[in-house]
Amino acid sequence: MNSVLKGKNVLLGITGSIAAYKAAEIVRLLRKRGAAVFPIMTSSATHFVHPITFQTLASQKVTLKLFDKNNKQMGHLSLPRLADLLLIAPASANVIGKMASGIADEILTTIVLATEAPVVIAPAMDHGMYHSPILQRNISKLKAAGYRFIGPEKGDLASGEVGMGRMREPSKIVEYLEKLFQSRDDFLGKTFLVTAGPTRERLDTVRFFSNYSSGKMGYALAEEGGWRGAKIILVSGPSSLTPPGGVEFYQVESAQEMYDTVMDKFPQVDGVLMAAAVSDYRPARHWQNKIKKESREKLVVELVQNPDILKELGEKKANKILVGFCAETKDLEKEARKKLMTKDLDLVVANDITLEGAGFEVDTNVVTLIDGEGKKEALSKRSKREVAQKVWDKIKWLMEARKITREMT
Ligand SMILES: Cc1cc2nc3c(=O)[nH]c(=O)nc-3n(C[C@H](O)[C@H](O)[C@H](O)COP(=O)(O)O)c2cc1C
Repeated sequence: MNSVLKGKNVLLGITGSIAAYKAAEIVRLLRKRGAAVFPIMTSSATHFVHPITFQTLASQKVTLKLFDKNNKQMGHLSLPRLADLLLIAPASANVIGKMASGIADEILTTIVLATEAPVVIAPAMDHGMYHSPILQRNISKLKAAGYRFIGPEKGDLASGEVGMGRMREPSKIVEYLEKLFQSRDDFLGKTFLVTAGPTRERLDTVRFFSNYSSGKMGYALAEEGGWRGAKIILVSGPSSLTPPGGVEFYQVESAQEMYDTVMDKFPQVDGVLMAAAVSDYRPARHWQNKIKKESREKLVVELVQNPDILKELGEKKANKILVGFCAETKDLEKEARKKLMTKDLDLVVANDITLEGAGFEVDTNVVTLIDGEGKKEALSKRSKREVAQKVWDKIKWLMEARKITREMT
């Protein structure tokens, strides 16, 4: 069987769920596709299925303990290093909770913290547990940190009831992993510039004009683009976030600095994703010293326009892909379409920042994607990392459509 999973090292975490027996089928399907599987079981999982089952199917020793006197290597470090992916299936509510809190009190959760490989989580539990607000908060937290989830789905539960919480079928989980590895090559050899965060426009030595942008959307785009094989140049305004590993990073402060850096890098990129909230205006002058209130009853600050980075990129773009972001408080679609046209964008990501769970500072977003042909896709509320996945999917689609058009003409 020819599969992208061939030769991949998959760590398979199995936790204390009644669905643990289904993990045996996952091992079989992964091995059939040529992957090496390294099972890791929590102590609860061993109450459901005996480790011998996984040892036999995987032809590998099952890792059970953090402190194992028979193991010459440190399993919690050697396994993460060899991993191409860590799949946790089934993932119990307990392990999800521990992961969301950074707890590493046994072998599986320790490996989760130690690995740099992507982590895919397939939850399985009763519907009551699944709908618990605490579990839902933990899932949101993990999604925001870049962990990927598959399922659960609605169906027959071990309790005899029907509801949400059933683990996705093993074949669907393996299909998802194949798609994930395929997407790793989506942007190989391509370079994209991503801007993120707010800009700060200086008023005096201690004060500035800015906005509430946190940089979360731009950083999620940079991380996801890097994961899909693109070389990413991240130009960020002030943000408390840590730049994702492997990106070429430029820290800027004002809109003018962002403009200078973006224009300098533009010739070498295949596309730009302008997620930064660039200030439209800056003070016409800035005071050398701190402005003192005693000296004046009223302070009038004149503002002048900053350069419109996106508009200028639109004028210069040639074959490059240009993605703009449009945060509005009213007339969202009208404003987004206007931006698409006037700045010659290929895609606009529009969000109504008045909606709950959308816009600045929060980990989620509610966006509508509108492409250059006016096609619209409204996405429900999801983590910014998931929005980023959709945006890159759309860019890939746009690039392929453009290639087909070129080949036909
Ligand atoms: C029969 C039985 C079935 C269980 N099934 C699940 C389940 O499907 N999902 C879940 O999150 N917890 C389930 N639990 C509870 C977990 O086993 C328990 O929270 C345990 O502490 C999880 O340990 P672990 O996360 O370290 O594997 C079940 C418990 C029992 C006794």
